[in-house]
Amino acid sequence: MDRISTFDEALQLRCLVLLDQERDANRAARACGLARTEFEAHIDALEVRFGCAVLLPGGACEGFTAEGQQVIAWARRSLGEWDGLQRALADMKHARTEASLMPLLARRSVSPKRLQAPGPDLGEIDLIVQAALRAPDHGGLHPWRILEFREEQRLALANCFEEEKRRRDPLASAGDLRRARAHATLAPVLLAFIVSPRARTKVPVREQWLAAGAALGNLLNAAHQLGFGAIVLSGERCFDSVFASRLGLRGEEYLAGFVSLGSVAEAPPAKRHALPGQVWSCWLPAADAEQAVAPADELPAPTDADEGSAAGEP
Ligand SMILES: Cc1cc2nc3c(=O)[nH]c(=O)nc-3n(C[C@H](O)[C@H](O)[C@H](O)COP(=O)(O)O)c2cc1C
Repeated sequence: MDRISTFDEALQLRCLVLLDQERDANRAARACGLARTEFEAHIDALEVRFGCAVLLPGGACEGFTAEGQQVIAWARRSLGEWDGLQRALADMKHARTEASLMPLLARRSVSPKRLQAPGPDLGEIDLIVQAALRAPDHGGLHPWRILEFREEQRLALANCFEEEKRRRDPLASAGDLRRARAHATLAPVLLAFIVSPRARTKVPVREQWLAAGAALGNLLNAAHQLGFGAIVLSGERCFDSVFASRLGLRGEEYLAGFVSLGSVAEAPPAKRHALPGQVWSCWLPAADAEQAVAPADELPAPTDADEGSAAGEP
């Protein structure tokens, strides 16, 4: 025998090495996470495998035979290699998992001033909208729509931006008005994202808003995946009803924001992101009214036996 080839073999050797370390079968069994009987069964199996007694006779852990000491020395070397291999495999699996999520993990908003032509062409915009339509959507209502502002309409749109700015801020300077107009002209592709909650449906309005938000997230991720920079910006103009009606919104619609899209001329500065622990905790039943939660990384990971017992219908 010159190599460990199964997890069972590795566990048998670990039992032996821990027995040598602890010199007490109960402590060694605990260190292995095994019941005493299971632990002894592993040592027995090891003796059968190697065809020799590893423990001195006597029942209690009196010490090791000469053969046993040879096996222990080999077990230490082999377990070192085995553990190294397992760590390397786990690292590779993690790297592959991370790589497959990279399009989501690496998405960043890119401000309009860092965008340049070309933006997505019509075929690419079509794909981006298809991706938005794949977002979870209770009842398939797609309670949102997209308005594209083509090149020929940007001047008229800039006039609407300026008009809204003058209305909101009668003392706006020439520079303020220029900046307001620029929001309508800077981006190679400019879309308005409009939330249109449907009235005649049992789907609660708050779920329709969530569906619209999910679609907006898909839209931004799709643009990123196609290699474009994108950002959603609302600003106070999106809350102005006169401005909304200039864009043709109906009374029950909301202008969520403008989505600027284009090629990335300059990467946005690095940014610190929130960590999963800030938004991920585990519910614990509370005896009193005060709800208990535990940070997810402080609870033991679920075992296979927990699978399928999760609450909720698909
Ligand atoms: C509906 C909506 C409207 C937004 N409006 C603004 C805005 O007016 N101004 C702003 O600075 N960021 C706004 N943001 C946030 C940016 O789009 C962007 O998400 C934020 O700068 C964080 O950058 P990140 O997406 O790279 O994490 C808005 C986001 C959403 C979803």
